[in-house]
Amino acid sequence: MRIGVFDSGLGGLSVLRAIRQELPDASLHYVADSAWVPYGPRGEEFIQLRSRTLAHFLAEHGADIIVVACNTATAAAVPTLRESLGAPVVGMEPAVKPATAATRNGKVGVLATVGTLQSARFAALLDQFGAGIEVLTRACPGLVEQVEAAELDSPRTRALVEQYTAPLLRAGVDTLVLGCTHFVFLRPMIEAVAGPGITVIDTGAAVARQVRLVADSLGSTFARASGVEFWTSGDVGRLAEPLNTLWGERVVLSVLPGEYAGQTA
Ligand code: DGL
Repeated sequence: MRIGVFDSGLGGLSVLRAIRQELPDASLHYVADSAWVPYGPRGEEFIQLRSRTLAHFLAEHGADIIVVACNTATAAAVPTLRESLGAPVVGMEPAVKPATAATRNGKVGVLATVGTLQSARFAALLDQFGAGIEVLTRACPGLVEQVEAAELDSPRTRALVEQYTAPLLRAGVDTLVLGCTHFVFLRPMIEAVAGPGITVIDTGAAVARQVRLVADSLGSTFARASGVEFWTSGDVGRLAEPLNTLWGERVVLSVLPGEYAGQTA
């Protein structure tokens, strides 16, 4: 079983980690679209184009399942991916539904990209699960870039986390949803800033369980060697260090072939 995973950058490593835990024998391929990160402020059409391009690269490299390890790309592109790919596609969305079960006072905060928050898919998610609770949202410009630089604990990152969580905490949310895969790397800082009594939720483990279900439905066999291979559309030299820091081991990082790195589909 080979699982192909992509994100705008390194945030999806938080999902990849959960998938490796759930399916340790799978062969994992990961593409970081670092030439085009962040996706958040880009238009849906562009994100659809990049998502189709990366998903086709992974499919051509033998992926049995494609995982969109990015809330923003899921919101923009999952229907078009499902139409254009033979392989099953697993996407992800902010954990509004689990938050409705976790909240005690009915006030939930969602931290995500502007692309996710403005999407029709997010509006539909609120319509479906948001009734009866108050959902406050907050876009977090600049925070993805801090994670891309593996600045998980710097004063600048802390200042941004404080700035973006403050209005939600002042409004009394007792549950914070990490609606962007990058923010999972900031979980310790977000928890520290939010303080005790605030439940922080991310979706990595749930996505990994979904991937397992799909793998089981395909009759998962693990004949291929397990392991992880990485590609990027960005600068390999610049990305290697943050990638090693966030993934926690030294890895081999390859350049995404030119025809997949630009604005092509
Ligand atoms: N990691 C992505 C997400 O989950 C998007 C970050 C970005 O590129 O803006 O939404």
